[in-house]
Amino acid sequence: MGAASLGARPGRALLLLLAGVGALTAASPPAPPLFNVSLDAAPELRWLPVLQHFDLDLVRAAMANILGNRAPKWVHALIGKVVLELVRLLPQPFIDEIRGMCEVLNYKLADCLLLNLVYESTAFCTSIVAQDSKGHIYHGRNLDYPFGNFLRELTVDVQFLKNGQVAFTGTTFIGYVGLWTGQSPHKFTVSGDERDKGWWWENVIAALFQRHFLVSWLIRTTLSESENFEAAVYKLAKTPLIADVYYIVGGTSPREGVVITRNRNGPIDIWPLDPLNGAWFRVETNYDHWKPAPEKDDRRTPAIKALNATGQANLSLEALFQVLSVFPVCNNYTVYTTVMSAANPEKYMTRIRNLG
Ligand SMILES: *[C@@H]1O[C@H](CO)[C@@H](O)[C@H](O)[C@H]1NC(C)=O
Ligand SMILES: *[C@@H]1O[C@H](CO)[C@@H](O)[C@H](O)[C@H]1NC(C)=O
Ligand SMILES: *[C@@H]1O[C@H](CO)[C@@H](O)[C@H](O)[C@H]1NC(C)=O
Ligand SMILES: *[C@@H]1O[C@H](CO)[C@@H](O)[C@H](O)[C@H]1NC(C)=O
Repeated sequence: MGAASLGARPGRALLLLLAGVGALTAASPPAPPLFNVSLDAAPELRWLPVLQHFDLDLVRAAMANILGNRAPKWVHALIGKVVLELVRLLPQPFIDEIRGMCEVLNYKLADCLLLNLVYESTAFCTSIVAQDSKGHIYHGRNLDYPFGNFLRELTVDVQFLKNGQVAFTGTTFIGYVGLWTGQSPHKFTVSGDERDKGWWWENVIAALFQRHFLVSWLIRTTLSESENFEAAVYKLAKTPLIADVYYIVGGTSPREGVVITRNRNGPIDIWPLDPLNGAWFRVETNYDHWKPAPEKDDRRTPAIKALNATGQANLSLEALFQVLSVFPVCNNYTVYTTVMSAANPEKYMTRIRNLG
């Protein structure tokens, strides 16, 4: 914009070029805050030091906004009626963590639980796992969410500590105890993309009563418990869930990259990297990879084009971040971008998009 208003002057092409570079730099997106959450502390207490850094009125306003927009009234009423029963069925430490934060926020437990369920739905995302020519594995994701404005303020990178050491890292929103993005250092990385199948709330509520996992809770449990890439893939593929999802997993050794297409009961497709046959990356958005992406929401083709243009030899976390910056892979709904590589855990990087 600035360059255009300068009008025709000598070196205008250069100015435009510089303006382009300037725009890139100016748009260089900020990192979210990074916090430690100690798993050695009681679940009810462990998030409270993080909450202290936030304006609780902002958190409450965000919760009210998201609940009001995303949860049908009948679901709200139903969860209110069955919350005590659900609390007995749902796994720890998630329920106690929610309870602890909820008390500080002075919110009803049913609302806090519902908030954690709401985020399980309607996220449009792009995940990429890829292998460079030397066999290094890279993993990146964009998390897109309508009503994202509040979420940008509430996005945090969290290091979960066990015995004072970083056991795993993830990106989430304050108040939300699951993870859609995370890394187990020197073991594997995971991201989740929504797979929408309709009748969402009906299915979710039925599945909750069957003790199925929330999709983001399974990511966190896997990061916490699985010893390696293979064990993580197995757990993510097999554990019963409340909703369909795509799990994208990256490891530390060549060929350790996969897209798992899940229904609630198990895997319906496993799509690994196949670099010996030229498949050095896998791109998953929100559609089954064996079907064409819908024309009105094709983020897959632009991502593939950008990866092709990068070339396997030039792949790096920075290059992957650039791929995830291309429109419409990155779009107005994009809340954050994370790039990670389990073999180099200190390179875990999240940037907030469209802030302000
Ligand atoms: C988080 O914990 C790690 C490991 O104990 C420590 O090195 C680091 O300084 C802590 N970071 C923050 C932000 O407190
Ligand atoms: C990407 O490259 C592969 C291999 O050269 C090619 O088959 C494919 O059509 C390309 N895709 C796009 C979207 O450019
Ligand atoms: C990778 O980068 C080199 C320069 O560093 C460039 O010559 C080459 O064309 C790039 N490869 C692809 C496939 O774009
Ligand atoms: C994205 O947001 C900008 C600024 O609000 C707006 O001008 C633009 O039209 C939006 N783009 C799309 C594709 O919705």
